Amino acid sequence: MRKTALITGATSGLGYEFVKLFAADGYNLVLVARNKEKLEEIKKAFAETEVTIIAKDLSIQGAPKEVFEETAKLNINIDVLVNNAGFGLMGKFDELDLQKQINMIQLNITALTELTYYFLPFMKERNNGKILNVASTAAFQPGPLMAVYYASKAYVLSFSEALAEELQEYSISITTLCPGATKTNFGSAASVEGTKMFSRAMLPDDVAKKGYEGLMNGKRVLITGGLNKFGAISAKFLPRSLAAKIAKYAAGEK
Ligand SMILES: NC(=O)c1ccc[n+]([C@@H]2O[C@H](COP(=O)([O-])OP(=O)(O)OC[C@H]3O[C@@H](n4cnc5c(N)ncnc54)[C@H](OP(=O)(O)O)[C@@H]3O)[C@@H](O)[C@H]2O)c1
Repeated sequence: MRKTALITGATSGLGYEFVKLFAADGYNLVLVARNKEKLEEIKKAFAETEVTIIAKDLSIQGAPKEVFEETAKLNINIDVLVNNAGFGLMGKFDELDLQKQINMIQLNITALTELTYYFLPFMKERNNGKILNVASTAAFQPGPLMAVYYASKAYVLSFSEALAEELQEYSISITTLCPGATKTNFGSAASVEGTKMFSRAMLPDDVAKKGYEGLMNGKRVLITGGLNKFGAISAKFLPRSLAAKIAKYAAGEK
């Protein structure tokens, strides 16, 4: 029987690359994002794959539960959950719009946590499942000028690593993907395209492929790119205040 992967943020960037990878491996797909037309286009483009689309704004309270309920109503078992949808915002915390930052927390943290909570019991029942949570190299240090975004990704990493340990006795793996700057719509949405940190952005197909391989091999944490790995490891040995200064420098203009 074909397995099913649910991918959030499937309409562009890394999410869309995951769609291609799972479809090529014969998975049925449940795709979640806000843009219904784009979801419909993707469904049409992957005519040989069984694709269910759910147009939902996951930053709205209650939306993750509605996604779960829709899959339950359709009797779809989720074998692989890819919590990929997320966004960032560049600017000083008190100068950025509060509601947008709350929406970011709701999407990057709450939706990811809720979806994991709803689908995990069924994976436990079958003693089989895989979860890919997309964090970022932002998870490894405080990020001045993107304070909420960096903190949200630190949550994703910490939560996922803890859960992986809780689930050790099960055949369920939790993989945290930590990409560095990657050429997707994220850059323009977060207004970070002209910054130093984006001067060596990776390609989304490379990043997604590494994430997919890591997920399939049950890797716990995967940092993409040699320089990103070096940066993440170095951050562990630096005083947090110095790591924050470096992150602030990287957020500056090229
Ligand atoms: N690109 C980078 O440099 C980078 C680096 C590290 C980590 N990441 C992480 O990688 C993940 C994927 O981002 P990306 O780079 O692929 O960015 P992207 O190209 O902007 O894609 C974001 C995806 O999330 C969906 N989305 C956004 N807001 C949503 C909402 N409220 N509800 C449901 N879906 C929503 C978007 O679709 P709709 O607009 O149709 O909703 C889109 O499919 C994110 O978690 C991001 O934080 C990115």
